[in-house]
Amino acid sequence: MDKGITLICADAIDALKNIPDKSIRLIVTDPPYNLSKDYGNNTDNKSFDEYLDFTRNWLKQAKRVLTDDGSIYVFMGMRYISYLYNILEKEIGMYFNSWITWYYTQGIGKTRGFSPRHDDILYFTKHPKNFVFNIDDIRVPQKYYRSINNMRGANPGNVWEFSHVHYCNRNRKQHPTQKPEGLFERIILASSCEGDTVLDPFSGSGTTLRVCQQTGRNAIGIEINEEYIEMTEQRLNEPFCGFDSIDERMKRVPNDLNDEKIREDYIRNHIDWFLKNHPDVVDEFIDEVKRKYESKISNFEESNILELFKVEEK
Ligand SMILES: C[S@@+](CC[C@H](N)C(=O)[O-])C[C@H]1O[C@@H](n2cnc3c(N)ncnc32)[C@H](O)[C@@H]1O
Repeated sequence: MDKGITLICADAIDALKNIPDKSIRLIVTDPPYNLSKDYGNNTDNKSFDEYLDFTRNWLKQAKRVLTDDGSIYVFMGMRYISYLYNILEKEIGMYFNSWITWYYTQGIGKTRGFSPRHDDILYFTKHPKNFVFNIDDIRVPQKYYRSINNMRGANPGNVWEFSHVHYCNRNRKQHPTQKPEGLFERIILASSCEGDTVLDPFSGSGTTLRVCQQTGRNAIGIEINEEYIEMTEQRLNEPFCGFDSIDERMKRVPNDLNDEKIREDYIRNHIDWFLKNHPDVVDEFIDEVKRKYESKISNFEESNILELFKVEEK
């Protein structure tokens, strides 16, 4: 196991009680949604009131372990999200920051009603003003370059499109509700810094831990099913060749990069700004640069941009 990554096989509420006060910068978690999923040794079918009590109890512990400038992101489906919001704001006294919609484009179909295509993530902070938010680490490239805008790109907004981790994805695990790493990457980069400790009390196949491992964060994962603990240990030992999902906007090359110097600066920085954890899509980005700008770049063969590509291709 990596130094800085701790995996605990236990009930989340029991294990949370052993974590010291104010020791965690960020909690990001995708708890069971109480929709009767079969998680091997535990089934997700509490009564309505039992589920709310369970949610209250783990969230009280979660607030206690967060640093005064800490943040929490909780994934939730439609059925319970309004109750979750109420517990976070009214019962445990945290501060609302964002309601993020994860739009997943494909999913189960309904014939009497509209097929669900999103889950949501509630982002609350412990303090109303004092919290970490690394905007420059999570910007998305602009569609059109405008000198008035920040060259590093725009705020990604609160609707995030990522497809589910498909069964044929090389990173797909035998876990019924594995989430895309790209979602966790954005959250972890935004709301923690390198060296901070991130906690996931319902860690499943280990998505949070894998992203922390690759982004220089310490992490604690709690999971009740021993098989998923073993799955996570194996996952953390696999070679890294890029997170399993990406917001498609990260690959885009802005239009109107007409000034030679600006174009070169932009293209030189794009990989570091947007594709640091996605080496597997750098070729697609390079093809897009060529498609858009090859004809505009004088002596393309000898240009600095091409040199940059050669370095990337090694
Ligand atoms: C929605 S899944 C998390 C999936 C995870 N985000 C991933 O990408 O793989 C919820 C997990 O919580 C675990 N779980 C359920 N009840 C628990 C409890 N009381 N304490 C700890 N883990 C629990 C389940 O076994 C399941 O793996």
